[in-house]
Amino acid sequence: MKMQRTAVLVKPDGMQRGLIGEIISRFERKGLKLVGLKMVQLTDSMLSEWYTEHKDKSFFGDLKSFMGQMPLVAMAWEGIDAVPVVRKLVGTTLGREAEAGSIRGDFGMSQQFNLIHASSSESDAEREIDIVFDKNELFDYSNVMQSVIYADYERK
Ligand code: CMP
Repeated sequence: MKMQRTAVLVKPDGMQRGLIGEIISRFERKGLKLVGLKMVQLTDSMLSEWYTEHKDKSFFGDLKSFMGQMPLVAMAWEGIDAVPVVRKLVGTTLGREAEAGSIRGDFGMSQQFNLIHASSSESDAEREIDIVFDKNELFDYSNVMQSVIYADYERK
């Protein structure tokens, strides 16, 4: 149980399909706290850094041109265990197989066009947040809802 921040991107297909509000709403309803939000067009070098674990894969070039084609909405969300919590809300990679009730399970059919990116580990989250956000674009503020979302012992 650990307070974490995680990175989310609404991918080009999610942008085109008008899912920005739906995605934000799902994370808000869950009880996560929004600590960063911006529109950004990722450059080839930002994407090479972002997807470094896929650099030897056959789809690396396609993935970078897909993700760099238009501005995306980038977010940083905070909460206890936010990295796995957000991954669960997002669902598994392939939309056709993703769990019903997850974002990909409810809205997606594709592997590449899977609507949304979510960090897969705490260290990836730190690296990804750093790629997209300047320090002064990330916020620390108190949200009154947190006292009804978590018990006291969980927030200590
Ligand atoms: P994600 O798991 O967020 O991060 C890597 C992305 O690469 C993945 O989502 C898909 O969008 C994309 N991807 C995975 N496999 C393939 C593939 N075989 N061809 C094209 N894109 C892929």
